Amino acid sequence: SHLNAVILGEALASEEDDLVFPSHDFSRQALIPSPQKVSFFPFFFLLPPSISLSLWNTYLEMYKRSIEDPAGFWSDIASQFYWKQRWQDHVYSENLDVRNGNVKIEWFKGGITNICYNCLDRNIEAGLADKIALYWEANEPGIDASLTYSQLLQRVCQLANYLKAIGVKKGDAVIVYLPMLLELPITMLACARIGAVHSVVFAGFSSESLAQRIVDCKPKAVITCNAVKRGPKTINLKDIVDAALVESAKDGVSVDVCLTYENQLAMKRQDTKWQEGRDIWWEDVVPKYPTTCDVVWVDAEDPLFLLYTSGSTGKPKGVLHTTGGYMVYTATTFKYAFDYKPNDVYWCTADCGWITGHSYVTYGPMLNGAKIVLFEGAPNYPHPGRCWDIVDKYKVTIFYTAPTLVRSLMRDGDEHVKRFSRKSLRVLGSVGEPINPSAWRWFFNVVGDSRCPISDTWWQTETGGFMITPLPGAWPQKPGSATFPFFGVQPVIVDEKGVEIEGECSGYLCVKSSWPGAFRTLYGDHERYETTYFKPFPGYYFTGDGCSRDKDGYHWLTGRVDDVINVSGHRIGTAEVESALVSHPQCAEAAVVGVEHEIKGQGIYAFVTLVEGVSYSEELRKSLILTVRNQIGAFAAPDKIHWAPGLPKTRSGKIMRRILRKIASRQLDELGDTSTLAEPGVVDQLIALADC
Ligand code: PRX
Repeated sequence: SHLNAVILGEALASEEDDLVFPSHDFSRQALIPSPQKVSFFPFFFLLPPSISLSLWNTYLEMYKRSIEDPAGFWSDIASQFYWKQRWQDHVYSENLDVRNGNVKIEWFKGGITNICYNCLDRNIEAGLADKIALYWEANEPGIDASLTYSQLLQRVCQLANYLKAIGVKKGDAVIVYLPMLLELPITMLACARIGAVHSVVFAGFSSESLAQRIVDCKPKAVITCNAVKRGPKTINLKDIVDAALVESAKDGVSVDVCLTYENQLAMKRQDTKWQEGRDIWWEDVVPKYPTTCDVVWVDAEDPLFLLYTSGSTGKPKGVLHTTGGYMVYTATTFKYAFDYKPNDVYWCTADCGWITGHSYVTYGPMLNGAKIVLFEGAPNYPHPGRCWDIVDKYKVTIFYTAPTLVRSLMRDGDEHVKRFSRKSLRVLGSVGEPINPSAWRWFFNVVGDSRCPISDTWWQTETGGFMITPLPGAWPQKPGSATFPFFGVQPVIVDEKGVEIEGECSGYLCVKSSWPGAFRTLYGDHERYETTYFKPFPGYYFTGDGCSRDKDGYHWLTGRVDDVINVSGHRIGTAEVESALVSHPQCAEAAVVGVEHEIKGQGIYAFVTLVEGVSYSEELRKSLILTVRNQIGAFAAPDKIHWAPGLPKTRSGKIMRRILRKIASRQLDELGDTSTLAEPGVVDQLIALADC
């Protein structure tokens, strides 16, 4: 029986039900404590459909209130922040149903606030002036820096003043192309302070991707640095920006100011290419500005940032988040999902170029006044134990990362972990892709010494913050399950007709009603917003993910159901990779699918048809891969190029990806019906070429 539990350190795990219980010690101190283990089972009543397992604890009461009275629930929480003026009339208004007109979501409308003020000034006034806000750990061990909350505010104000001086105003876009230096969160906060809209582009994107984003949002300035060291490599970021600015100018968007931080650890200024007039050294101008800067107060619904993400068509989507709801939501999710306490030291390995770095490196933790570790380098450089070295050095208590890193460190061997103490760790977190149970167990048993609950947080760029996540200590975990919804979130599983299915089931994951952190539109394309997210299943927000729910109500995310693949937690549209491939002069056609990959979760598998008369060669394969690296970024490089004399298409010309996926994963006896293909023979040809 499940009482026949196995003791793993202090935690109890019932093998039969695959439940991993939080230890009593953890649970007792948790913000959301759990009922005692003995009282855990017999109950299926009184519950919203997404939770069939009754946990009549604090969580359940809070969750019920958040669904039955969202306005009351969220306005109580929002009141803990500073508002220059409180929101008016109602806490939120929404229409998620395309059949009732345009989709519209508003939270705290009419409320006047500023997220930078809430991250810094408010915390400083509350006594945190001398608390460390950011610890910075360089790529090379032994080099580090830190900023207290008041020092951070001063740095932010200097940059904010500079931005104002060059004419950046409320509502203007600023593109940020920086690696994980202190200057990255400083820049985000400085933009927020003056109401400018930051758009951070991950500094692993190519010049073409950067140019595309510049053309889309027409920034007043681009902020970058000359170069960065990542592992043993030096990457010349300024060259990439220069090329992007040439590209964007061809499309009629020229940028007047390129503020460049001289990252002396990577490159000296005399080695940096320079365009007088446009390019300005950060160090030459920013420190001259005053260390105080008045806040520009904004409406809760004024935009905070744009973050481009991949969809199922070629063009990246500018996901737009606004200020008030995002602020309340990221702060609250951070606090509860990591059981945050004021003495915690928090480290998230994500880059600020992705949503995780926005919500859970910068805003969420800073709104809570947390001590945050920012790491510039690669997690396995100069040795596979670097992460645990950093954990011990800063006494990290909360460690948040992606399954891909967990798997690669697991492959490197336990000895690299065990050589470090890690006794400061208290809570672990996972994000970006489903974490397979064996990686989960390794993370739990080896990294966390069977002591630290794992918050497997499911969410998206679009959702702004966690949607389905364990609350550590609140209930037993199942390795690989993101468990239950966060407060205010109503996940539903629907069938292909859009009908909600209950109980034990699997289908498409949607969300009913809005939550404060939801994105409000796709920049400049509200129609695409509605078509992509709200039309597939009218009445709901469609996530693009598949999900199943087990007999106990636990949620299991099963991956994307659209043409998006998830490589090492990075979202890549198959169409983007295809369009990069076909831009190669010798490529006639390409079809890209995701395949299971031991470390990366999914790998990129490309079927490529060459133009007449060209024959395949190793050199051509390399040049195709290089094309994708140059057009998107190294992280999107295909793992496999499969030469394809033809692609399986229906008579109407549609590529049958289902068949390509089976060929790519070598499930050749599961190809299904191929009789509807225009030329059924291509399948055999493809199989014959599989290992060329
Ligand atoms: O497929 C889901 C997967 O990542 C997608 C969102 O990607 P992105 O917008 O880049 O945001 C990544 C960081 C939030 C989702 O549609 N995903 C994210 N977290 C999980 C996950 N899949 C399973 N489990 C997770 N914890």
